[in-house]
Amino acid sequence: MSKKVTRIGVLTSGGDSPGMNAAIRAVVRTGLYHELEVFGIMRGYQGMVEDDIFRMESRSVANIIQRGGTILKTARCKEFFEPEGRRKAYENLRKRGIDGLVIIGGDGSFRGAQKFSNEYDIPCVGVPGTIDRDMAGTEVTIGFDTAVNTAVQAIDKIRDTMDAHDRVFIVEVMGRDAGYIALHSGIATGAENILIPETKTDIEAIIESLTEKEKRKKLVNLIVVAEGEEFGGANEVAKVIRERMPNADVRVTVLGHIQRGGTPSCEDRLVASHMGYYAVESLLLGRKNVMVGVINNKIHYTPLDKAVKEKHKIGQEWMKIVKILAS
Ligand code: F6P
Repeated sequence: MSKKVTRIGVLTSGGDSPGMNAAIRAVVRTGLYHELEVFGIMRGYQGMVEDDIFRMESRSVANIIQRGGTILKTARCKEFFEPEGRRKAYENLRKRGIDGLVIIGGDGSFRGAQKFSNEYDIPCVGVPGTIDRDMAGTEVTIGFDTAVNTAVQAIDKIRDTMDAHDRVFIVEVMGRDAGYIALHSGIATGAENILIPETKTDIEAIIESLTEKEKRKKLVNLIVVAEGEEFGGANEVAKVIRERMPNADVRVTVLGHIQRGGTPSCEDRLVASHMGYYAVESLLLGRKNVMVGVINNKIHYTPLDKAVKEKHKIGQEWMKIVKILAS
């Protein structure tokens, strides 16, 4: 029988995502409801290593559900990936009697949690917070809905001016390793081409269809590109198109970190509240080293090692649909 947790720590780590504050709020208030002591850890694992940890009360999370970013701040902490860093972190938790951890972040953050939980007996529960939506064991991650809607709003605006000028626009969205934002925002804005890291970019086919349009004097075309696409993003793709089609009027927009900020959508606030609540419930039930996910609208637990090893795969049927709908 695992012993019941009494004091939990919560942190946000890796790239921030809109809705992380709603998740922190859910963790703190669920913990307090169960009469646990709750501690906020600043800047992810950095705060754990450097002992930047403070007691949280219900009012610590008042008026944050609607705010983007994270009140606990975030970081990518190299020291925690060294045994000495994890030892320091453990000592800092131990001296406060913290016996359970909720980690809100993406796969890099869960990799850290997995290493830590293999070495020290502090149960860790992961809550997937990443705009990339690239975690195995969940169909939903906190921040994706907001980020993709930010991208859609921006691309809709670009489409207006693109259409007015008959231009080729290449819009780069975030996603170093994952094409979900590109795929969803591209489909939702009627992009002719969507280039993502998960598939090979058929540049010849793109040039061919653009040349065809140029011949018909109707060269207007929207290409949505994930930053981690094979050629290296929108500017690289534009370079190739400009070289091969010197008369084409090509413009590039890189949306960048605008996708990570802003007011979280209703969906992200709900998902974050739900997952934060279940993260604490699962620690109380003695679950260890799992990620709380959602599959088919139901809460689903995946062992952390599986969540970090496997990638959520993009179904190939989507790419077929993109082609058909853009033709
Ligand atoms: O993981 C989220 C993400 O926004 C990726 O889509 C992107 O590649 C990366 O973070 C950017 O990281 P940074 O903010 O460190 O530049």
